[in-house]
Amino acid sequence: MKIAIISPNTAHLHEMAHVLQERSHQVLSFEGGKTRMPAIAEQERPDLMVVDGMCCDPADLAPVEAVTTRYPRTAVLLLCAQQTPEFLLQSMRAGVREVLPSPAPPQALAEAVQRIAAKLPDGVQERAHGQVMAFLPCKGGSGATFLAANLAWALARSHSVLLIDLNLQFGDALAYLHEGKPASTLADVARDLHRLDASFLAASTVKVAPRLHVLAAPEDAIHAMEVEPGHVNAIVQLAAAHYDFVLLDLGRVLDPLALGMLDKAQYIVPVLLPNLAAVRNAQKLLRMFHDLGYPESRLHPVLNRVDRRHDIGLAEVRKTLGLAQQQWRAVPDAPQEVQAAINAGMPLAESARGGALARELAAWAEALSPGANEDSGGFLHRLFRRA
Ligand SMILES: Nc1ncnc2c1ncn2[C@@H]1O[C@H](COP(=O)(O)OP(=O)(O)OP(=O)(O)O)[C@@H](O)[C@H]1O
Ligand SMILES: [Mg+2]
Repeated sequence: MKIAIISPNTAHLHEMAHVLQERSHQVLSFEGGKTRMPAIAEQERPDLMVVDGMCCDPADLAPVEAVTTRYPRTAVLLLCAQQTPEFLLQSMRAGVREVLPSPAPPQALAEAVQRIAAKLPDGVQERAHGQVMAFLPCKGGSGATFLAANLAWALARSHSVLLIDLNLQFGDALAYLHEGKPASTLADVARDLHRLDASFLAASTVKVAPRLHVLAAPEDAIHAMEVEPGHVNAIVQLAAAHYDFVLLDLGRVLDPLALGMLDKAQYIVPVLLPNLAAVRNAQKLLRMFHDLGYPESRLHPVLNRVDRRHDIGLAEVRKTLGLAQQQWRAVPDAPQEVQAAINAGMPLAESARGGALARELAAWAEALSPGANEDSGGFLHRLFRRA
């Protein structure tokens, strides 16, 4: 759901946003009081408004009633430090769905939002939530970008996919799929963040294939510096509500931006080559993920450029790094196929159809989409169908 939260208290805003984002809602936070409700309802048309800082005076309910009357598709949930029976009754009469204490206990907030979501019209509650996959190389040149780009291509055969290049300074993901420069980049979207909605996001991407959009990295390092973690967070959150898959190509630097993305990703994909230095780095990375409290089930490492002639194979690597067999993928080394694709500036599946690596990428895409649902009915699906 698209949820607008309003509170005079920044700590409350932050906590609530965290609870709701974790449950895949699109959250917009506004600092202030109930008087902001009508303007926000008009501008954002959220599915739900969560309004904090209501005292128990029924006279406070005037802006609430204005919103519930004018925007019947927007549900309202109030947070109120003290609740008198009279206030509760008046709130219900004003069209409020639920009243919770303030600050709202996270579990109670999540449950109330869930109850409200269950009663929304079908189109809203059924809105598809895309899978976010974050790719990161365990060492430079591991193939993280190459795999993210080519898996995106394979997934886009039956899903809508957005690939976001988060190597802000030296991003090159687009070059693996497409020749030519992007008309706009992540830096342009970040700069105009107030315009962010699904159509602005789609318009800022390069349409590499009907269902594959790429949001390219900024063209120069100065623009890259203007991109902040908050910008990227908002972009990825919106993208996940509109695309089936959002693939993030992270660089080697684990800065606050990258950590924010790893927090969001359902699939964390560290990519390593079969050599000792890479395995050591991967070990550090996995230990860090453990310390950050990420469940192991989100980790899906890839051993790239596996060659049967190598001493180190997947079995050896797994012995050192652990995780269940089904969490790992081994991708074959295919220098000629890869070079031909890079030289042609096109996806591997197009330049080396039927090769071992192209088959592996197709199988990977297939494994990610059991019971592939061709039509999630979202805004972008309609857009893609028209395209
Ligand atoms: N399976 C593969 N077989 C053969 N070559 C590969 C394979 N995967 C990647 N490569 C080669 O490795 C090179 C580096 O890959 P890539 O740019 O994806 O690295 P990376 O992990 O993103 O590193 P960084 O972002 O630090 O530069 C590619 O240009 C490609 O030539
Ligand atoms: Mg890279």
